[in-house]
Amino acid sequence: MTLMFDKKLIDRIRLTFPRAAADFNERKRAFFDNGTATLVVEKAATAEAEARINWSANVGGIFDESKQATDTIRSGRQAVADFLNASDPSTIVSGESATSLLFNLSYAFGKELTGSENIVTTDYEHYTNVDPWVELENRGKVNQVRFAKLNMEEGTLDMDHLQELIDSKTKIVTITAASNMLGTKSPLKEIGKLARDVGAYFVVDAVHHIPHGPTDVQALDCDFLVFSGYKLFTSHGSFLYGKKELLEALQPFKVRTAPTTPPGKFEWGTRNQAMFAAINGVMEHLLWLSEEVQSNYEGQYLEFEDNKRSLKIVMDAIEQYETGLSSAVLTGVDNVPGLLDIPEVTVYGLTDLKRLDERDPTFSFEVENVPEEEVELRLWKEGGIAARSGHYYSLAQDVYNKQKIVRISLVHYNTLEEVKIFLKTLNEICKTN
Ligand SMILES: Cc1ncc(COP(=O)(O)O)c(C=O)c1O
Repeated sequence: MTLMFDKKLIDRIRLTFPRAAADFNERKRAFFDNGTATLVVEKAATAEAEARINWSANVGGIFDESKQATDTIRSGRQAVADFLNASDPSTIVSGESATSLLFNLSYAFGKELTGSENIVTTDYEHYTNVDPWVELENRGKVNQVRFAKLNMEEGTLDMDHLQELIDSKTKIVTITAASNMLGTKSPLKEIGKLARDVGAYFVVDAVHHIPHGPTDVQALDCDFLVFSGYKLFTSHGSFLYGKKELLEALQPFKVRTAPTTPPGKFEWGTRNQAMFAAINGVMEHLLWLSEEVQSNYEGQYLEFEDNKRSLKIVMDAIEQYETGLSSAVLTGVDNVPGLLDIPEVTVYGLTDLKRLDERDPTFSFEVENVPEEEVELRLWKEGGIAARSGHYYSLAQDVYNKQKIVRISLVHYNTLEEVKIFLKTLNEICKTN
């Protein structure tokens, strides 16, 4: 199987992640729990430490440490804007988590709702993109939160049902970019159009999808989009993109002395400059990787300039590499059978090899007659596979009635070799059960 990154490059990528090969105990393991939190890239960790130690001062002072803190926040915002292809850094709001940012946004929407409107979302959201809206319903700010059904067999959205739910009273359409249980990507452009047709706000929860492929807020024409740093090779701390005119018009809950213009008016409390330094470190990593694959992209993405183009290229390359990994997970490596060929295994989500571009490499599965915890434990003990079993706060798990499920999720530092070890161990678990 030919992958987008050759062995030499993947080895170099892994060197940029100090814990890609082994954990802090020097235990070699394959890290397949990226959907819960990715490993940290060295550039992000060192940039974060530098900011913590050298410019821990608060912004707005005339001394160097304070100026550096201010600059760090400015350049971190710019880096995120470039990554998302946002028009300008003032459209990037930072926060503690995607959860806090979405609650913040829902409170702001709440101020302009009359109680007669509805909000449309889906049956495969993370609760983070459910409860801020249900809260509005509970407080009588909207009439109803509506949930689009899934095509259960293939684990995709039922677009006909979604369309039926959207009507002239729909004020917000809010959708995950990819399901954190099934890996399925949402057809965001199509959904955005449905929202715009009725004049509803279009909100995207990109937390799960963010490390897996390009995210372009202008191409999506979304009104808001949120993602979190700990799913993108750094530590906690999240970012909300919002269209400038909407950030200006909405009235978030704020203290009276906070700025009256975006992004500051949406930001609760003092900013963490180290978080901005860290996200800048992530972008430096991605720009480095972009250089490595540039030669495959001559003549492409010319409509984007400078870092925006480089970040597009690298995320496209990552997406292609990961599609190769997905294919290996499903079909096997070097004669080791893949998930599709192990009769005891049931995979939830898209398994059609012709449709791998519609999914991220996140696979939830069960093994006949083997409890989830046992699969998790044996994968770890016998194969050194760091996977997980449990509930991932995904509504889809309630819909499928799977309160516990085993999940693996891969990113661009995972390898075919690791997939092979995973599959070997899983085949063994099935045989010796
Ligand atoms: C799709 C999705 N949305 C939201 C979240 C929660 O993000 P945060 O912890 O930043 O609030 C997660 C976390 O797993 C997620 O996968």
